[in-house]
Amino acid sequence: MDMNVRIPLSRPEISDEDVQEVLRVLRSPYLSFGPYLEKFEKAVANYVGVEYAVAVSSGTAALHLLVKIAGLGKGDFMLTTPFTFVSSANVALFEGALPVFADIDIATFNIDPQAVEDLFSRVKKGRVEIGGKRVDRIKVFMGVDIFGQPVDWDRLGRLCVENDVVMIEDACEALGAEYKGKKIGAFGLGGAFAFYPNKQITTGEGGIILTGHERVFREARSLRNQGRGEGKEWLLHIRLGYNYRMDEMSAALGFSQLKRIDDILEKRRKVAERYNTMLCDSPIEPLKISDFTTRMSWFVYVVKLPKGVNRDRMMEYLEKQGIQTRPYFQCVHLQPFYRKMGYHEGMCPVAEEVSRRTLALPFYNTITLEQQEEVISKLMEALERVG
Ligand SMILES: Cc1ncc(COP(=O)(O)O)c(C=O)c1O
Repeated sequence: MDMNVRIPLSRPEISDEDVQEVLRVLRSPYLSFGPYLEKFEKAVANYVGVEYAVAVSSGTAALHLLVKIAGLGKGDFMLTTPFTFVSSANVALFEGALPVFADIDIATFNIDPQAVEDLFSRVKKGRVEIGGKRVDRIKVFMGVDIFGQPVDWDRLGRLCVENDVVMIEDACEALGAEYKGKKIGAFGLGGAFAFYPNKQITTGEGGIILTGHERVFREARSLRNQGRGEGKEWLLHIRLGYNYRMDEMSAALGFSQLKRIDDILEKRRKVAERYNTMLCDSPIEPLKISDFTTRMSWFVYVVKLPKGVNRDRMMEYLEKQGIQTRPYFQCVHLQPFYRKMGYHEGMCPVAEEVSRRTLALPFYNTITLEQQEEVISKLMEALERVG
């Protein structure tokens, strides 16, 4: 981290108990495939209220296995949001498929179900093309609960059924969020959480697949472990697999952190509410929370700046004051290597507009009221002087 940063964008919170759990692993002979892996998997599955969990080496690995198990392959198309972390879409490319993007809602930044519906009907009429290739059908839909807020799962689920599309969930940013009173994380065929250090709980690097389907569970366990079968034979590989295993130190850290999840989410909620209050009379807009979001799991705190302001100059100004911010997110379809594949500006105008104006502010469990006040006062100063 840059030494001049006084208030960072995010910061993990590691307790003495977390350290003790990891030390227990280091003092044991089981650094991989030990007791914590299963304990962590069971704890996450219980927390979400689903049958099965398979811990893996990252959120990206979890999503990759999900799209693979969903049957996505060469020449197929996967529908998702352009306003997300790049790996949500990249996993389609890993399998030789192409992502197709539907636009987002201007206030929640989540995929707009109306845009999804319109896209399905344009695909049926043969009117969607990517880089000169006609999109003949959508095979998989990946919903992404952006910044810890659920998408409209009921409505999107109905659209997927009507259009014969396999639905999967990228819940990487949303551990603990609830949609209409139900924990998110395993809608459709299955879902994924991620545990990078900026997430609600961390394992260092890590991710997990949640599913209610036994087939998905079995395939995911084999695929993460070099395609091994369920027998004891270590050198028998029944399919092409990967080394996507989560190590035991990571599992112990995640297991220990998950015990505090309610406390963590509550701390984050309070931090977000303090920011909301501080911004209520300003032209800077906080995230809108949908009616169906019965529990938000705050991942980052992102605001929308007024139209036409110079966000880059504001970020530079804040950086000089030791305050770290980030322009979450840049549209996936406009990333340099996506442009080379034929994606271009104008494909998702709302997402493009939002991504020019959004800014993530410092946000973590232990940020103090004084630090938040300083962030907001410097943010207002930046808007006035250089915005
Ligand atoms: C929406 C989303 N999907 C996928 C990922 C990928 O997770 P990981 O970085 O653990 O591979 C992230 C991580 O930041 C994410 O925010």
